[in-house]
Amino acid sequence: MAGDTGDKDTGTAPEPSRRALLGWGGAGLALGAAAAGGAVAAVRSGGNTEQAADSGSAVPFHGAHQAGIATAVQDRLHFAAFDVTTKDRAELVSLLKEWTRAAERMTAGRTVGEGAYGGPAEAPPDDTGEALGLRPSRLTLTIGFGPSLFARDRFGLEDRRPEALVDLPKFPGDNLDSARSGGDLCVQACADDPQVAVHAIRNLARIGMGRTAIRWSQLGFGKTSSTTPGTQTPRNMMGFKDGTRNIAGTDEAALDEHVWAGRTDDAGWMAGGSYLVARRIRMHIETWDRAPLQEQEDIFGRDKGEGAPVGKAKERDEPFLKAMLPTAHVRLAHPDTNDGATILRRGYSFTDGTDGLGRLDAGLFFLAYQRDVRTGFIPVQRSLAASDALNEYIQHVGSAVFAVPPGVRDKDDWWGRALFS
Ligand code: HEM
Repeated sequence: MAGDTGDKDTGTAPEPSRRALLGWGGAGLALGAAAAGGAVAAVRSGGNTEQAADSGSAVPFHGAHQAGIATAVQDRLHFAAFDVTTKDRAELVSLLKEWTRAAERMTAGRTVGEGAYGGPAEAPPDDTGEALGLRPSRLTLTIGFGPSLFARDRFGLEDRRPEALVDLPKFPGDNLDSARSGGDLCVQACADDPQVAVHAIRNLARIGMGRTAIRWSQLGFGKTSSTTPGTQTPRNMMGFKDGTRNIAGTDEAALDEHVWAGRTDDAGWMAGGSYLVARRIRMHIETWDRAPLQEQEDIFGRDKGEGAPVGKAKERDEPFLKAMLPTAHVRLAHPDTNDGATILRRGYSFTDGTDGLGRLDAGLFFLAYQRDVRTGFIPVQRSLAASDALNEYIQHVGSAVFAVPPGVRDKDDWWGRALFS
């Protein structure tokens, strides 16, 4: 982020602030360096197709869909769920407007408001400052609205709750911690630089003070999915390639069919949006690490080196499900086993210290986007919870579901306008 002086304009950012202009000399240098490094990649509005994006570049914030869903998956995550503490609808609306303007600036590599320094000494600066000098790092900020936001006697939204935003059923094996579940709002910050993602969540939380409070948050590293089939598939904490068969960010037909809410779906205000399921899945990696290789491969139904399905040679070969054990993860998760249910996975690995029993608190922070949770995550997870051989090594410990509204169209639009108008 070039800071007060670094207005790396993607064509959508507001005019530089007064303080930005005072320091314009530095901006020239920053922009010059960025241009030399090809920092701002040519990206389509909505940020969906920046396959070859430079890891420092900016992803456009405005578009028909929110960025951070079909966008090529960034390296790092900071996800936060918020409780709305104000009871006042107008205060919530003004918060969402303020968040939108801040998100516009941060995703373009700019500071919040008037910046991190140079203002009146008697007032705290608008921006906390730790992203000064860092590039936009493909930061995307994606907002979601949880079921509790639509509750009766809160903000008058009870008739606006989409039917597709269901409360998830309790699945066999769930061991959910309420302190790591739910939330009125969520913001998913993805970036190639962890400091840029953390800075973004911190500054939104700061703007929200008095109106929202962080309910839980999750840091993620090592993406465990891919929306860019042309690139190397990342590996999860169990050492397997993860994200091989996923919806590609460029596959408009699949996105329209399985990810984006349609105009004729039950809630009109959600058209162009999506539904997000977040699951914190603990992995018992110490036990996994003692499992023989053959057992590990049988559990997934793919080999560990290449990632090829059972009986096939190459990662991208079409899986032959009947060649796999009936309890194999891939067989059970495949659309053919679940009435065609297809989701866009976008999860990350985590390790959060120890569990106090001498083991790492590690796992997969599973994130999946879909057009309707009832025909997406739920049927797939029902199959997995019932029979997946992987269940011996994992446990779902956190859960949340959110309606992710459509994209912010331009600088007059704001997160949630269609819902609140
Ligand atoms: C810690 C938990 C999990 C691990 C380690 C894991 C790992 C994997 C791996 C290694 C693959 C094969 C490569 C690929 O196609 O991406 C895969 C596929 C898949 N997983 Fe998972 N997964 C986990 C949880 C889940 C959950 C909770 C769901 C959804 C409810 C899910 C849905 C899928 C789907 C849809 C596929 C692709 C199946 C296909 O079309 O072939 N996974 N997973």
